[in-house]
Amino acid sequence: MVKPFHLGWFVGNGFGVHGWNTPFSGSAARDWAKPGLQIDLARAIERACFDFLMLEDSLFVPDNYGGSSKFYLERALRAPKNDPLPLVGVLAYVTKHLGIVPTISTSFYPPYLLARHVATLDLMSEGRIGCNFVTSTASRAAQNFGFEEHIEHDLRYEMATEFVDVVKKLWDSWEPDALVMDEARGVFVDPDKVHTIDYKGRFYTSRGPLNTARSPQGQPVLMQAGGSPQGRAFAAKNIDVVLAATNSVADMKSFRADMRRRVAAEGRDPDSCKVVFMVIPTIGETDAEAEDRFLRKQAFKEAHPELVLAGMSSLTDIDFSSFDLDTPLAELTTNGQQGTLRQFLAQGSTLREIVRNYSHGLDRLWGSPDTVASKMMEIMEEVGGDGYIIAGPLTRRYVTEVTDGLAPVLQKRGAVRSAYTHAHFRDNMMEF
Ligand SMILES: Cc1cc2nc3c(=O)[nH]c(=O)nc-3n(C[C@H](O)[C@H](O)[C@H](O)COP(=O)(O)O)c2cc1C
Repeated sequence: MVKPFHLGWFVGNGFGVHGWNTPFSGSAARDWAKPGLQIDLARAIERACFDFLMLEDSLFVPDNYGGSSKFYLERALRAPKNDPLPLVGVLAYVTKHLGIVPTISTSFYPPYLLARHVATLDLMSEGRIGCNFVTSTASRAAQNFGFEEHIEHDLRYEMATEFVDVVKKLWDSWEPDALVMDEARGVFVDPDKVHTIDYKGRFYTSRGPLNTARSPQGQPVLMQAGGSPQGRAFAAKNIDVVLAATNSVADMKSFRADMRRRVAAEGRDPDSCKVVFMVIPTIGETDAEAEDRFLRKQAFKEAHPELVLAGMSSLTDIDFSSFDLDTPLAELTTNGQQGTLRQFLAQGSTLREIVRNYSHGLDRLWGSPDTVASKMMEIMEEVGGDGYIIAGPLTRRYVTEVTDGLAPVLQKRGAVRSAYTHAHFRDNMMEF
């Protein structure tokens, strides 16, 4: 009997431009600001019984590569990008079972506003919302919110821990049976069941209660993806689903074992915190066709190192255009994404070598749907759980390859769900 695992879809570049100037992107790039592409994705992955769709977000126009935003704006890389929260309402309306997870910055959102936003969406979707909490990593983002430089990396996680504490208390400020709606007595809300939280912390103060009611899940599902020791410590205290972009089976295994140890040390059941791993399979009708596609993608990447480097610059606040491609790199540090930088540098000694070997998540995985399904199942068995987030390019063609090619094979073999057992996202996510 196969132990089932979870599937999510990670929409990198969230509500931004997808597929600009690439084959099979149709009108997606021209229509980037409308929700059509993400609606089609949500419906397709719900048909394939995915647990959730997660929307990346960032809060700045990058100018880290070459000291100007020219490189990014000309190629529509990370800008323009719409706010994901209004899109979540639309996606909830066109689906019935799928979990929907926007990314939220704990460094810049006021906790009350966030708690209210998410509770509203959870009420609207009848219990299918999660939040991917990030601390935001770019000083340009910080400058959009009145800081000269970004808050120091470890301090951001201390703030995030308090942020989550406030938000959770606000979500609990209405008891489950506070809405009585008793027409005979003329009572809509029982005032004895709505409470202030009177929170006074080091970073945040909030009186409460929330001015929307308790949401169906009570506590919407919390996710995060920070891989540094501080990020993992934050996750161990509060988080239901950790997203990891490791690129080898050995790293996946040790990441999950480390998270489970940390969660247990916080007095939580290790099974109450799922770890899902980023995977970018290349799928073809045959193994040979898939391999050919993978090799062409790899050749394109090697011919255009600047695309990988500009992406990495915006995540780490380091201008990689200023380094020679073939000179061995000295030690680099960042106040941006530390785990991401560490992983990047571990892939070679010069930038050219790093770009050639570069993967963010498991992307050296190709084959027919049967072959990819077998590999994913073997890896999951070796790692022990808990699932994958698919993070390939958002074109309708790729979505179809996954949802109508790969997912049905995984379902037939009992590796992923073929139906939604529960009404709420949290219950489905915690089912196995
Ligand atoms: C799968 C995945 C998704 C992520 N999504 C976002 C995102 O939407 N927005 C963002 O600012 N950072 C995002 N990140 C970055 C993380 O939140 C975090 O900043 C990064 O992994 C570095 O964290 P660390 O400094 O704790 O290692 C993502 C990372 C991963 C692995």
